[in-house]
Amino acid sequence: MNDLYFDLLAIRDETFLRDVIFYEEIDSTNSALIKLQQEPVETPLLAIAQSQTNGRGRAGNNWWSNVGSLTFSLLLDFPMLALGELSSFSLTAGLSVCQAIEKHAPAADLALKWPNDVFLNDKKVAGILIEKPSASEPRLVVGIGINLNNDLSEAPSEVRQRATSLFGELGDPLDANRVLIDCLQEIERRSREQVHHREELLDQWRAYCMLTGRQIEVKSGNVVHSGRCLGIDESGALLLESEPGAAPERIATGEVLKF
Ligand code: BTN
Repeated sequence: MNDLYFDLLAIRDETFLRDVIFYEEIDSTNSALIKLQQEPVETPLLAIAQSQTNGRGRAGNNWWSNVGSLTFSLLLDFPMLALGELSSFSLTAGLSVCQAIEKHAPAADLALKWPNDVFLNDKKVAGILIEKPSASEPRLVVGIGINLNNDLSEAPSEVRQRATSLFGELGDPLDANRVLIDCLQEIERRSREQVHHREELLDQWRAYCMLTGRQIEVKSGNVVHSGRCLGIDESGALLLESEPGAAPERIATGEVLKF
């Protein structure tokens, strides 16, 4: 299954977007928006790519994708979002991806792997890369890669070991255009909650957190913390109990190494 069909007018008209750009091939939709935002552009702006030649992931990693994967980035002006909340916005975007996909595949048991991954059946199906392109403007580039209708059999072995696609797990292709519109609608709704009604959002971050109760290792800066994950606090930080009964450690940013 390798067809991706996008109705750009419907994507713009049914969502909060002001403009949509489609690339048949681009190095990275995040990089494209980081360049474009130096010119006058209308936001929220969406860049979608049929294929990326240099997709980027967190921590300088590459994002491997092939035909059938859904790769897009949003340029958002977000003055209400405090700077320290950039990382928790990954959870909000990830939650939006989970719930948009579940509308199309209700049986899929999607989960958030703090802080920026979406998992299905213990394998990664989507990743989120949030970048701040301007020091002076309250602007974000929110890049989302979803292994939707692609086949990972040609992926490098390290990708195959830890990732999967929705098509690979469910056996049926999903409507990429509708999944994208639903993701965008969820992102808009959940962004408002992030600013105004945090309680509902917090419950949802916690409900989808796949690490809760697991013994994990998290690298934050140069320090590796280990312990049992107690969930996520109201700021989006991970809570870790290093030994039974110890006061929870708060990890605001980091990467989960083992879980
Ligand atoms: C990660 O898992 O480390 C984040 C992956 C983010 C990939 C998306 S695909 C669309 C956008 N463009 C990029 O170059 N990266 C993001």
